[in-house]
Amino acid sequence: KVKEKVNSDYDSSSVREKRRLKLQSSYSEEFDAQCFEYVLNKMDKKQGLIGLDIGCADGYVTELRFKKEYPFDMVIGVDFNEKLIEKISQEDHGHFYYHQLDLEAKDFDDRIQAIMDEHEIEGFDVIFSALTLHHLKNPQRILMKLRKYLNRGGAIIIRGVDDGAMLAYDDGGLVEKILKETISFENVSDRFHGRKFYTMLCSLGYKDIQMRYQVDDTTHMTFEEREDFFHYYFDFRLSYTLRTLNKDPDNPLYQENHMKMQEMLDELEEKFMKPDFFFSTLTISAIGFK
Ligand SMILES: C[S@@+](CC[C@H](N)C(=O)[O-])C[C@H]1O[C@@H](n2cnc3c(N)ncnc32)[C@H](O)[C@@H]1O
Repeated sequence: KVKEKVNSDYDSSSVREKRRLKLQSSYSEEFDAQCFEYVLNKMDKKQGLIGLDIGCADGYVTELRFKKEYPFDMVIGVDFNEKLIEKISQEDHGHFYYHQLDLEAKDFDDRIQAIMDEHEIEGFDVIFSALTLHHLKNPQRILMKLRKYLNRGGAIIIRGVDDGAMLAYDDGGLVEKILKETISFENVSDRFHGRKFYTMLCSLGYKDIQMRYQVDDTTHMTFEEREDFFHYYFDFRLSYTLRTLNKDPDNPLYQENHMKMQEMLDELEEKFMKPDFFFSTLTISAIGFK
């Protein structure tokens, strides 16, 4: 079942989630760099670029992806997590600036315009977004809006995943069960968003769209690497059942769901750590130009 409406109450400010995001970032560092370098080479404008990172969390990934050696004069990161933005916007991050912004806010246009006015800029040359669009109820709408703020000749790079791209053996069907259970919760993000990138960008008039994929699998991984890989792809699924349970701790159904998920994840982790267990998945990026 491909979920169409999303209502994710995801929080990226917990210590555990920040750690997982850092780990996640390390898997895609080279992959993102190739996307950025492709875009920078293809664009006519070579200097004084303005960047925007949508869903920047604490700016960790923003500052690694918009590398200091790239010709950006200014990079703005936006995220709706007040705690994270308040902290980083009080620090000096050189030419990186951070603002609290809800991408789904009714007054999104006014808010982003105010940010642009504050920095005296008229548009962005590169818009980047990693693992954020799947949290939105209507990612198509924000991609449409963002295109307005992209300078002519500018590019957008969006990165995500898709649970449908996962292969596992010999898990006895456990991965499928966990994925099925994951999407049954109300507050879950769109676990099948990677497949939608091309159609979304294409329908919104982005040009020269290019899809890129990175395959990651467990073959050749050390025990520790397998452990990290498992946490990256499965750990957070427990937070869905936990958040639901926290809202109504005495609800026996929520208690049971949480316990069931915990048990399935424990069982999968055990399998995952065995050297002959196979798991592979894709990281998916799309690049489009205006
Ligand atoms: C999985 S994290 C990814 C963070 C970072 N881009 C990275 O790659 O590590 C998703 C981010 O999107 C932000 N986010 C989710 N919904 C949002 C919304 N409606 N407006 C702004 N930011 C949002 C979250 O606060 C979170 O920091």
